[in-house]
This record gives sequence, C-alpha cells and structure tokens, in this order.
Amino acid sequence: MPRLAIDPADYQASALDPRTLFEKNIEAVWLEIGFGAGEHLSAMAQAHPEIGFIGCEPFINGVARLLRDVDQHSLTNVRIVMDDARLLLDGLAAGSIGRAFLLFPDPWPKRRHNKRRFVGPENIAAMAKVLSDGAQWRIATDHMDYCRWILAHMCPAPKFQWLARRPGDWRNRPEGWPGTRYEEKGAQAGRPPAFLSFERQARKQPIKQP
Ligand SMILES: C[S@@+](CC[C@H](N)C(=O)[O-])C[C@H]1O[C@@H](n2cnc3c(N)ncnc32)[C@H](O)[C@@H]1O
Repeated sequence: MPRLAIDPADYQASALDPRTLFEKNIEAVWLEIGFGAGEHLSAMAQAHPEIGFIGCEPFINGVARLLRDVDQHSLTNVRIVMDDARLLLDGLAAGSIGRAFLLFPDPWPKRRHNKRRFVGPENIAAMAKVLSDGAQWRIATDHMDYCRWILAHMCPAPKFQWLARRPGDWRNRPEGWPGTRYEEKGAQAGRPPAFLSFERQARKQPIKQP
C-alpha cells in the first residue's frame, strides 16, 4: 500500500497531473470510482498495460482484495486512493482522465436519501472537468430507479452524450467491460444490469495550462 497509495497531499495541494504517478510511459490514465473488491479494475489493468489506473475506494476490505490481485498479477499500472472520490476529483487537473468507471454505485433508494447518489449536478460538473475531450464515463447499475435518475441527470448535461443508439447498447454487456461482484449479486437476485456509456463532448475552448 505505501508504494501504491496516492498521497492525499498530492491531490489536495494543486491540479494533479496523474501521469506523474506512474513509472513508465503510459498512454492515458483511467479512473474507477468505488471499485469494491476490485475485480473490474484488476481485469482492466491486466488487459491494458499501456494505461495507468487509479482506483478510488474508501472501504478497506475492498482495497485489501485489490492489493492481493495487484500482487498476484504483478501489476505495475495501478495506484490507489483510499478516500472519497469527490476529494480526488477536486484535485485532479482538467482533462487529465481518459476514461472513468462508476459501477453499481450505492443506489440510496429512499427518496430522502436520493441526494447522496454519486450521480448529481455537482459530481457531473466535476467529472466534466477531469475527463478529456471524447473520454467515456461508463456507469452500470441494476437499480432501475437509479438508472432513470442517471439518465434524467446525464442526458440534459450539455458536456456529455449518451452513446446508446438501440436497446441492446445498454442492455447487453459491451465488449471489454468485465463484471463485478455487485453485478453478480444483482443477477442472482434477478436484477439485470444497465450498461450506460457517456462521452465527454469536446471543449469549445482549449484547457488553460496552470
Ligand atoms: C455497491 S458497491 C459496488 C462496488 C463495485 N463497484 C462492484 O460493482 O462490485 C459501491 C462502492 O462504492 C464505494 N463508494 C461509495 N461512495 C464513494 C465515494 N464517494 N468515493 C469512492 N467510493 C465510494 C463504496 O465503498 C462501495 O464499495
């Protein structure tokens, strides 16, 4: 963990360029928010050695599971933030993330708790800041009310475009999208997942370098 953890001082101080966190030349940095036990992150890091991965998860048991995978597969392209993703998003440089994943986020089903859902105006704006032009934000959920909520917030967001053209695009697992523990749990309970991919639209003005 001391080797892989990102020091909070790195993202609390200024606009962190996440490429500097990786040893070798990487093509881009991808971010997974709330990776749980890390199955998706580990599979993606194995499939894409040319990409640097940041996983963000405050749940210590999940971090421990991911560390086991990192060790087992000798992964050198994974860094971990054991913190609330919102703090990391605030500290990342604009346009520094090439793809992001939010898989089976807590659905907060009670109406009075809906505001705690990760997808909402503030985090959509924060994601629009950190994602590069044309980057995908992939979101999965098996909670149909949260699915409707995500679409109701993301579809009108001018900086994002939902990429689905036909029902199969969000009902069927896209290629290269590994499954997770929560997905498996939901499937066993008869809750099919929705796979939602959004594209960060090109900025009208180039990003100003700090
Ligand atoms: C329902 S679990 C899904 C875990 C995993 N993505 C999966 O599909 O198996 C949601 C996870 O998001 C994490 N989480 C919740 N809020 C978070 C936040 N603000 N930043 C980072 N992780 C968060 C929780 O600790 C939990 O592990």
